[in-house]
Amino acid sequence: MKKFALSLFLLTSSAFLAACGSDEPASGGGADGVEEMTIKFSHVVAENTPKHQGALAMKEYIESESGGKIEVEIYPNSSLFGDQDEYQNLVSNNVQFIAPDLTKFVGNNPQFNVPALPFMFENDEEAIAFWDGEKGQEILSSLEGDGVLGLKMWPNGGKHLTNNERPIESPDDLKGLKFRTQGGQVLEALYSELGAGSESIPFSELYTALDQGVVDGQENTFSNIESKKFDEVQKYMTVMNHTRVDYAVFTNTEFWEGMNAETKEIVEAGLEEGTKVAREEAINLNKEAYDLIKERGETEITELTPEQIEEFRTALEPIYDEFEDEIGADVYEAARAAAGQ
Ligand code: LMR
Repeated sequence: MKKFALSLFLLTSSAFLAACGSDEPASGGGADGVEEMTIKFSHVVAENTPKHQGALAMKEYIESESGGKIEVEIYPNSSLFGDQDEYQNLVSNNVQFIAPDLTKFVGNNPQFNVPALPFMFENDEEAIAFWDGEKGQEILSSLEGDGVLGLKMWPNGGKHLTNNERPIESPDDLKGLKFRTQGGQVLEALYSELGAGSESIPFSELYTALDQGVVDGQENTFSNIESKKFDEVQKYMTVMNHTRVDYAVFTNTEFWEGMNAETKEIVEAGLEEGTKVAREEAINLNKEAYDLIKERGETEITELTPEQIEEFRTALEPIYDEFEDEIGADVYEAARAAAGQ
């Protein structure tokens, strides 16, 4: 009997020591000390997008590593909150994560206009280098007064123009047309510089606005155009890559600081996992979406020559002077450095 008790003691203590020595986060029902909770992640785009895939990866990681103690509910397609109310609901902690297009935050800080600076970044890598860098991080931290933390930048990609009136090949082709924008002073100025009008419309209302001719066109990533089928209601698309959709995952500070160490470790690692997937999928899904748009053949596609792109770049150059004071020469400098300019 004594012998049995001793071997039981040795067995359980060696299992205990093995668990303590492991660097792996607690998983599969272990998860000692992890708080039981439900976390909500709300966004406005479709499921087959980099943002949703990133959120899914986060969910899978957190749920599995917490042994089911943490549940992550994802609400895509503005099904919980949309462009108009997601920020306010994050401030109120009714939702714990949102990942909005950064240009939708320009009302809080004009430096969120960076993704709208014409032809600043050529690809995701350059945009990521900016937002992961010192200036980018400083901008993401600028909502702390509202009790909101900017955690990680997730890219979507370059935006392209669609419209219902004519093929767009030169700056003059935009004259007199009206475009929907995500919002912000820079996008508005960009269209007025080209003799066009603009209106900011929530993403959830965009398909109908295009279909009913409230606006003639819009700018978006291939992924958003394809997944929301904007090509069904737009006769022309010009591959421009002139501005970008870039997101950051934002959280409520009180929620974030309120988690105990074991819980936060899992959630933070989940965010890292989501970031990896969102960044990979931004490239994959935009490529796939462009092929799908071509295959569907609903919209006539114009691919600009380098000379034509140069015409747009020159026409939009005054935007930089116009916004230098508001956005900051230091931000321009950091963005140019990230872009290798
Ligand atoms: C849009 O409103 O067009 C996009 O910013 C939506 C999104 O979140 O990608």
